Amino acid sequence: MLRIFEHVDADLGRSCLDRAVLLCPEFGAIMDRFRRNDVIGRPEVVSYGVYGELSPSTCRYVKTLAELADRFGSLDGLTVVEIGGGYGGQALVTHEVFQPERYALIDLDEALELQRAYLTASDVGGCFEFVAADDFQAAPAADLVISSYALTECYRDAALGYGEKYVVPSPRGYIVGNQLMADRLYPTDLLRLRSTGHLDREVPQSAAGNYVFWWNDAGI
Ligand SMILES: C[S@@+](CC[C@H](N)C(=O)[O-])C[C@H]1O[C@@H](n2cnc3c(N)ncnc32)[C@H](O)[C@@H]1O
Repeated sequence: MLRIFEHVDADLGRSCLDRAVLLCPEFGAIMDRFRRNDVIGRPEVVSYGVYGELSPSTCRYVKTLAELADRFGSLDGLTVVEIGGGYGGQALVTHEVFQPERYALIDLDEALELQRAYLTASDVGGCFEFVAADDFQAAPAADLVISSYALTECYRDAALGYGEKYVVPSPRGYIVGNQLMADRLYPTDLLRLRSTGHLDREVPQSAAGNYVFWWNDAGI
């Protein structure tokens, strides 16, 4: 399982931490909370000086959380929908700082099983819902939709279905896109679905061509 979901090396982890603390200086004082994401599953951890030991993947989830806070403010009370949540690391780290009213994870059945087990064992609290990709039309409407390295890895038809349900109507969105595979969702598709979106280069870059597509029509 470790090999499937750990894609971040030590240097990228450091760059993510630097960016997180640049955007949200208060995160520097609460790294112990984020370390809870490294308790289960024995991830390889790296010593990051004053911030102590963290897995590089946790650093990237913390960076994503800082970008969410920077763009959208508090996530307290929101219905958050995450498409393709991996093992549940972003969900856990998010709940270390914010209390969304609902947090729905949409994924393939095997991944959902892992997320349910992980978030239950982590005892992070939170009002989680686990929605099978085949049933995504039954998932709640989102105040904020997020998806990292997932929407752009789904088959194009599935991604366009998510796009119609979440990119078009959701008032806030944050999508980290990659360009690993052909015939998937492209930035031009995202801009067509949501013309108010911003297309930024991913910082730090996990891989060539990665981008962040985000929008906030709700204001902070
Ligand atoms: C590369 S992983 C990214 C995981 C996580 N977002 C992260 O940043 O670590 C891709 C995720 O997309 C999920 N996925 C693949 N096909 C999907 C689909 N059709 N609908 C929803 N999720 C899907 C995978 O199961 C996995 O959770």
